[in-house]
Amino acid sequence: NQVVGLVGWRGMVGSVLMQRMRDEGDFSLFQPVFFSTSNTGAAAPAWADGAGLLQDAYDIDALKKLPIILTAQGGDYTSAVYPKLRAAGWDGVWIDAASTLRMADDAIIVLDPVNRPVIDAALQRGVKNFIGGNCTVSCMLMGLAGLFNNDLIEWMTSMTYQAASGGGAQHMRELLTQFGLLNAAVKLQLDDPASAILDIDRGVLQAQQDPELPRDHFGVPLGGNLIPWIDKDLGNGMSREEWKAEAETNKILGRGEAFGSAPTPIDGLCVRIGAMRCHSQALTIKLKRDVPLDEIAGMLREGSKWAKVIPNERDITMRQLTPVAVTGTLDIPVGRLRKMSMGPEYLSAFTVGDQLLWGAAEPLRRMLRITLG
Ligand code: HSE
Repeated sequence: NQVVGLVGWRGMVGSVLMQRMRDEGDFSLFQPVFFSTSNTGAAAPAWADGAGLLQDAYDIDALKKLPIILTAQGGDYTSAVYPKLRAAGWDGVWIDAASTLRMADDAIIVLDPVNRPVIDAALQRGVKNFIGGNCTVSCMLMGLAGLFNNDLIEWMTSMTYQAASGGGAQHMRELLTQFGLLNAAVKLQLDDPASAILDIDRGVLQAQQDPELPRDHFGVPLGGNLIPWIDKDLGNGMSREEWKAEAETNKILGRGEAFGSAPTPIDGLCVRIGAMRCHSQALTIKLKRDVPLDEIAGMLREGSKWAKVIPNERDITMRQLTPVAVTGTLDIPVGRLRKMSMGPEYLSAFTVGDQLLWGAAEPLRRMLRITLG
């Protein structure tokens, strides 16, 4: 059995990843060495039989001995350790959830149900860096693979509804703390059916605007609010999250200038909302030709076995096309499919995906399996 170094296995993405790997029996395929950035020498997790003690995740000599390293520790760790490791002559496979190396020429963005040929060609060429994509991009591609495979998309816009978990575990806690405080601020009036709704509304706004409301992580209240900006300001009117859609999608699919072909234009607006861990997106797609809706549904179903077409009807949409319905599953429902009033080549769609599963953990554990052969 090959030895695989695991870094960042205890955080939110790491915990989801470990659970998925245990569920799928991945640990029978390799011998894990668990690393820690803070707890060297402590026992490895009890469920990993005989994995010994935690190693120092900053110890380049220890890392260097491993043929494969998988990290969900985050971008700061990657920036601190990865260059030193390669500078020390390490030639192993680096599988990473962080965005740091994603767009590097010597890195592949992994989403094997969609880009297995790109991954296989890279392995043939000796590429050693395999990086998970942005969560919104990966979830969108898992839903729309069928349309990309059939080369039907001329351009696309995405309007996103991104969950708190995209910020991190602390962001989820902050959102829930805010919800609790907002509720507490008007609890007595809520319990009194005779109270006036506008008084309640005023009480909520007061609590939202109270500087004491915890907001260290989001910067502003998210409970009962939304934030139409995610990630850095690129200074050209675009957020970094918005920039990723076109850049990463094309790289994942092996399209664009770097591959000698025209990129598919994808642009939109990314918004943080008060959902927990599922990112949703409303998509406007300009098709290359007028394809009937039933054929589109068939292509979507064929695109990946996780894409689930939801009939464009009210009840089933409300039950199945929501973060609450999707959380904790690998399903990527795609619904609200209809031709728009602009013409038969304009398709509207809505999709939801668990950003910790297809958006983060799942592509990594699958890439590890591919690497192990
Ligand atoms: N940038 C994403 C978000 C995180 O903030 O929702 C997952 O890549």
